Amino acid sequence: MTSKPLSVTSLLAKKQNGGKITCLTAYDASFSRVLDEAGVDVILVGDSLGMVIQGQESTLPVTVDEMVYHSRCVARGKQRAFLVTDLPFMSYATPDQAARNAARLMQEGYAQMVKLEGGLKQVETVRHLVDLGVPVCGHLGLIPQSVNQLGGYRVQGRDEVSANRIIEEAKALEAAGASMLVLECVPTSLANEITSQLVIPVIGIGAGVGCDGQVLVLYDMLDISFGIRPKFSRNFMSEADDVGKAVEAYVAAVQTGSFPAKEHSFE
Ligand code: KIV
Repeated sequence: MTSKPLSVTSLLAKKQNGGKITCLTAYDASFSRVLDEAGVDVILVGDSLGMVIQGQESTLPVTVDEMVYHSRCVARGKQRAFLVTDLPFMSYATPDQAARNAARLMQEGYAQMVKLEGGLKQVETVRHLVDLGVPVCGHLGLIPQSVNQLGGYRVQGRDEVSANRIIEEAKALEAAGASMLVLECVPTSLANEITSQLVIPVIGIGAGVGCDGQVLVLYDMLDISFGIRPKFSRNFMSEADDVGKAVEAYVAAVQTGSFPAKEHSFE
C-alpha cells in the first residue's frame, strides 16, 4: 500500500469521518514493513516487548534504551503508518523526566507520538509534554505497568465508581492535550461512552467494537505469544497462508467491524 504518511490530523479526521483506525504492535523492521504494506494505520512499539520479545513476566523491566532501540528498528521498516512508542515503567515519574525520555524516543527512536499509562496523576506530565511539542497517547483501563497495584491483569471499570473514574480520567487527558487514547480491558458500554464523549480517537483492546480503532499485540494475533492467548485477541493466522495475509485479514476485520466480536469483549 502506498499513500500519504499518516499523521495526528489524518487520524483525527478518520474518527470524524467514521472510519476505523487499525493498530498493531511491532518491534523490528521486518514486521514493521509487513504491517505497513498490509495497511495498518498505527504501529505501536509497546512495552509488551518485555513479555513477547524478552520473555519477561511483565512489562516492568523494560528500559528506555530498549524502547529506543526497538522504535528505531520499527521506524526503518515503515513508510505510511504512524509510529507510537511507549514510555516504559518509571521513565515518566516527573514531568521533566518524561520530557527527557520522550525526547529520546522521538530523536533517537523516531517515534511520532509517545504513549504513557495512567489518568489524573499524568495530567501535569501530559500538559508539559504537549507544551514541548510532543504528541501524547494516554492509556486507561487495565494499565499493565500498574499490574502489582491492580492485583493482576483484570477487566477494569465494571462498577459505577470505577467506570466514572475512568470517564473522568479520559476527559482530563484529552483536556491536557492528549491526541489519542488506548482503552484496555473495559466493558463495551463504558468504552462506547468514552468514545462518544471524546473528540480524540479512542483505540480499544478488549474494549468492544464501538471504539474508533483497535490494537492487538502482534504476537497474540499471530498466535505465537508465550502462554494463553487473551480472550480479547483472535488468531488471524489460522486462516491465512502467511503473516502478511493474516495482518490484511485483521485490517479488514477491524474496518468492517467484524473484529472484535462479542466473544472478544467484556460486559
Ligand atoms: O505495550 C503494548 O503493547 C500496549 C498495547 C497492549 C496497547 O500497550
